[in-house]
Amino acid sequence: MSEMMMQQAKNDKILSLMSMEDGAALPDGERTRVVAVASGKGGVGKTWLSVSLAHELARSGSRVLIVDGDFSLANVDLQLGLAPRYDLVDLLSGTCRLEEAIQTYTSGAMTRGKTPLIFDVLPGRSGLSSGVGLERGSADRLLLSLRLLRRYDVIILDLCAGIDVVTRHLSAVADRFFAVTTEEPTALADVYAVMKLYARDRRAVGGGVDDCQVVINQAASHRSGRRTFEKLFTACRSFLKWEPELAGCIRKDSRVPSAIRQQKSVVENYRLSPASVDISRLADTVRKGFASDGVSARRDLRAG
Ligand SMILES: Nc1ncnc2c1ncn2[C@@H]1O[C@H](COP(=O)(O)OP(=O)(O)O)[C@@H](O)[C@H]1O
Ligand SMILES: [Mg+2]
Repeated sequence: MSEMMMQQAKNDKILSLMSMEDGAALPDGERTRVVAVASGKGGVGKTWLSVSLAHELARSGSRVLIVDGDFSLANVDLQLGLAPRYDLVDLLSGTCRLEEAIQTYTSGAMTRGKTPLIFDVLPGRSGLSSGVGLERGSADRLLLSLRLLRRYDVIILDLCAGIDVVTRHLSAVADRFFAVTTEEPTALADVYAVMKLYARDRRAVGGGVDDCQVVINQAASHRSGRRTFEKLFTACRSFLKWEPELAGCIRKDSRVPSAIRQQKSVVENYRLSPASVDISRLADTVRKGFASDGVSARRDLRAG
């Protein structure tokens, strides 16, 4: 390994330890969890999933921020019908302050605690190459300052499809990594490639692969989604010696494209539609996963 690469690996480790340290010092309820949503292929539904998950987590009272980290096709703001004045690029170039770049989305619905359902959005900008938009160092600083704000329970990173260096890095340092795919063989092959790199990158920053979970989106049915997952599972077990977990299957639902066209939320407007029901179940899994992280962290502390 070259000296530069070794230094980079060391920096990665320090930053990831800093984030863990930051979290470890806080009571579980106050820790910011970063969830990265990634895929190999574009168009599998990452942005829709990020936005819908944000809704569901906010509904149960979590303070949520979505960061639009897709610098090739940024469209979180489009799906939410926001018209942001500033974006991530303005923030990173110093044109605006963090407070100015973050927008609050008000859904019009209420949370389970009977308060208005809101969450925050840090909009992205489309059509940039990674070199222009976001670099590793600035991505790290941004993530760290967002964690240190201690204003959010969950930060959802809606990432680019594929394996550029910044996307890989953000995936590796997140607390949870959702590898999203559809049932299409090409999407499946591409997400396998992403997971293979994730396993390598994750180990390089001192983390484990247990924090990666697979989401099968646009599944013909739960049974068919599970069968698709099993193919991926078998490939990972055979070639990577890793048995990944399934976070959930989201069924293909004609309400999704029509709601996106109308800039409406499926989970708000069609609560009983198949995709809404599945997203709501996924949000429960996310919440339970975080709660059990807390339990195991407490157990580790007691054991230490
Ligand atoms: N569960 C689903 N059922 C039906 N269509 C879906 C579903 N999820 C996503 N889509 C469709 O896929 C398109 C691409 O979704 P998007 O979130 O923009 O993908 P990505 O961010 O991965 O590129 C959406 O416009 C929507 O029409
Ligand atoms: Mg997208």
